Amino acid sequence: MWQDARTDSPAATRQAGAQLAAELPPGAVVALHGGLGSGKTTFVQGMAAGLGLEEEITSPTFALIHEYGRPARLFHIDCYREPSLDRWVGLGLSEYFATDAIAVVEWPEAIAALLPPETVHLQFELGATPDERLIRRAR
Ligand SMILES: Nc1ncnc2c1ncn2[C@@H]1O[C@H](COP(=O)(O)OP(=O)(O)O)[C@@H](O)[C@H]1O
Ligand SMILES: [Mg+2]
Repeated sequence: MWQDARTDSPAATRQAGAQLAAELPPGAVVALHGGLGSGKTTFVQGMAAGLGLEEEITSPTFALIHEYGRPARLFHIDCYREPSLDRWVGLGLSEYFATDAIAVVEWPEAIAALLPPETVHLQFELGATPDERLIRRAR
């Protein structure tokens, strides 16, 4: 089973993401908590690799949702620029959580009310050195 990680490089964070993704059941929802630069998007790059997706993963900060695979296998959602729950409800976010694709959410606090109860919550923190990151399963 996936374990908490202390990584010392972006590559190691990607590897942790790949390991988690390989173990997730279809349709899993993953919420990534943590500040700017704590490694959330880097972790999602690893998740995509772990799912066998070869597309380049970029932050969906402005697009809000990026979709990878055809049919979709990974939804990458970023709530940083859109804290309005009503807006996300209007976008049909719950439907993204009701498919067999993996959904991963950065800045999930705004949409906490929409997250399924079985959501996997991860907490990202900066470590003691510039390249260290701590990734813990939050609950
Ligand atoms: N161990 C590490 N894990 C992830 N990113 C790291 C690590 N060490 C340094 N970094 C750098 O920190 C930044 C993390 O950015 P990003 O993944 O976009 O964070 P977030 O999505 O949480 O804002 C990148 O510039 C990356 O190169
Ligand atoms: Mg990010």
